[in-house]
Amino acid sequence: MEFYKLQSGGRMPALGYGTFLATGIELEQSLNIALETGYRFFDTAIGYNNEPVIGKVLNEWISAGKVTREELFIITKLPCFGNRPEEVDTYIKQSLKDLQLDYVDMYLIHLPIGLFKNGKTLYSDMELDNSTDHLNIWKKMEDQVVNGRAKSIGLSNFNIKQIQRILDNCKIRPEGLQNENHLYMQSPEVVRFCKLNDIILISYSTLGMKSFRELAGLSWKNKQLPEMLENDVLVKVAKKHGKTTAQVLLRFLNQKKIAVIPKSVTPDRIVENFQIFDFKLDTEDLDALRSEDNGEDGRIVYFSMIKK
Ligand SMILES: NC(=O)c1ccc[n+]([C@@H]2O[C@H](COP(=O)([O-])OP(=O)(O)OC[C@H]3O[C@@H](n4cnc5c(N)ncnc54)[C@H](OP(=O)(O)O)[C@@H]3O)[C@@H](O)[C@H]2O)c1
Repeated sequence: MEFYKLQSGGRMPALGYGTFLATGIELEQSLNIALETGYRFFDTAIGYNNEPVIGKVLNEWISAGKVTREELFIITKLPCFGNRPEEVDTYIKQSLKDLQLDYVDMYLIHLPIGLFKNGKTLYSDMELDNSTDHLNIWKKMEDQVVNGRAKSIGLSNFNIKQIQRILDNCKIRPEGLQNENHLYMQSPEVVRFCKLNDIILISYSTLGMKSFRELAGLSWKNKQLPEMLENDVLVKVAKKHGKTTAQVLLRFLNQKKIAVIPKSVTPDRIVENFQIFDFKLDTEDLDALRSEDNGEDGRIVYFSMIKK
């Protein structure tokens, strides 16, 4: 496993396991396979409604002496309906309780937008909070590092301007940024910005998020785009290396020093996605893959369920 160094002293595995849209017994079985395969980095969020399952499995592995807490790297996130300074303590405490942990390795603000939950479960029914104040929320995020509930803190779905404002006003710097980033939306300016500011970029939707797109009825703005895993250029590179297209997508970002957290509940794919360090893409491959960038037309996630 490769690791990326955090400014605060820790290290993040270059490859982790994503858990969006995975719950219950299916997630429990998948987590066991992932841990047996060697995954030690797990990404979750209050919004995924699966922290209790993750907590149960991690606790079983730690109690059995099969893994130590120090070997694990756990990310969870402040939900957008908790995007107020006075709610940060409540939500991180809830996550820690459900995850059965004393601390998380990285705590992220999930979205730059704030909502009022008001007893609602659907984001589309929640009211927009026009008073959302990133700097005041960030101060409470910093408190989580000081009080030991989070080893490091970061952001998700923030743009460069929003991140720069936090960098200009913070005591503890964001160490991670979890944003959509993949073959069709490569965001080179965000990659450069993160490198310049020592922020680890963590890609989501690296494999094209097929199940979510089908579930949510989403498609790319550029309707000509083929299914990401079936892209011709990608298929050619994969054949050249005797690897699958998913492995090439993951290795492509890994060679740019971007962390990847593919999600799968399919046993063979969980193993397949872990085997990305035994081959290297050359300049010709990297140039070919770079040419598939569609910028904003390649975006999958618009958070369009959030009104206004
Ligand atoms: N911060 C945010 O706002 C945000 C947003 C989205 C996601 N995330 C995080 O990023 C993680 C990854 O993103 P994602 O889950 O949306 O999408 P993804 O990892 O790009 O794609 C997951 C989909 O790809 C399939 N898949 C996995 N491995 C495969 C393989 N080797 N070959 C073919 N298909 C494969 C999975 O199917 P099966 O499961 O059926 O195998 C699933 O349908 C999430 O789980 C979550 O932790 C964060």
